[in-house]
Amino acid sequence: MAKEFRRIGVLTSGGDAPGMNAALRAVTRAALDKGVEVMGIFAGYEGLVHPNLKQFTARDVSNIISKGGTALYSARCLEFKEEEGMQKAIQTCKENQIDGIIAIGGDGTFRGATDLSVRGIPTIGIPATIDNDITSTEYSIGFDTAVNTVVELIDKLRDTCESHARCNVVEIMGRNAGWVALETGIATGASAIVINEVEFDEDKAIEQILEAKKNNKRNFIICIAEGVPAVLGDKLYSEKFAKRFEEKTGIETKFVRPAHILRGGTPTMRDRLLATQLGSEAVKLLLEGKSDLVVGIRDNKIVSTEISYALKLDRMYKGTLKDGDLDKFTNAQVAEMKAYCEKRNADLRKLYNIAYEMAH
Ligand code: F6P
Repeated sequence: MAKEFRRIGVLTSGGDAPGMNAALRAVTRAALDKGVEVMGIFAGYEGLVHPNLKQFTARDVSNIISKGGTALYSARCLEFKEEEGMQKAIQTCKENQIDGIIAIGGDGTFRGATDLSVRGIPTIGIPATIDNDITSTEYSIGFDTAVNTVVELIDKLRDTCESHARCNVVEIMGRNAGWVALETGIATGASAIVINEVEFDEDKAIEQILEAKKNNKRNFIICIAEGVPAVLGDKLYSEKFAKRFEEKTGIETKFVRPAHILRGGTPTMRDRLLATQLGSEAVKLLLEGKSDLVVGIRDNKIVSTEISYALKLDRMYKGTLKDGDLDKFTNAQVAEMKAYCEKRNADLRKLYNIAYEMAH
């Protein structure tokens, strides 16, 4: 087994997420435990294109399980998208006797992992993004921390909203996905949640809020997913919404955009646990000779999915499939993908409906 794998590389790429360090630590420790050396690759694929690596001991990853950010740093490397850049990366792997790579990040990171796999470097991906938009896993590393961070912030806003009988409109990061806004909205008792995945009836939401106001409710929180303004092509949608809401309801309304605050901070227990489980599993799969897989969690079980399958599943869920995307999959696989997407969508809608049940 470990014979072929004398040394592996590990990198973090794309937007950082709390818990990436815990995953880095888990990968390093799991590999060292199997007698396999570990090279930390700095700044994502950039560190392979322009060699920037360091051999890691168990001590190099001490005390990082509780730290936000990524000790390996992160970058979005455009050069790696070109064949020339990829060849430089392969060369770096060869020169440093790196037999396989574990790539921690989001969908862009996994596309890079596949590019390495097809060029002969076995690679396993670990999903880490606050957006929770990797469809093949129910949770990605960083999501839980991001939600907890914004929940804490909104709890504070609510205190002052209650004192002054105000509303706070909060725009919440998550790229085009509404998971962070939705779960935050539920956990903070938001009066309305606006996400791309579910049509939003502004008049109905306002009616419900005015009803609650009549019923002596004093504080109102409205969560808007960052992706809504992006999809509508109006960067100022959330600010305008806040203004419109104030005009229509007469409730004084403040606007808040916590932005990258969600990406920092101490990872929660849940993110540390998930990162450790996924890091250990990724090493196990790589040393078993597997490649081009992304690990994840479904129904509370650690699973793995072929990256090409995972990326197409993502497109199916997000409604961005291109002609020919499903050609290489069997009818049974396509049916399985559809069923999975429908379930994920149904789960999201169920949560959304519960949020509205609570908003009185
Ligand atoms: O993917 C993580 C994320 O924080 C998204 O929520 C957000 O849309 C994007 O990255 C911001 O990217 P950047 O850090 O490049 O501004």
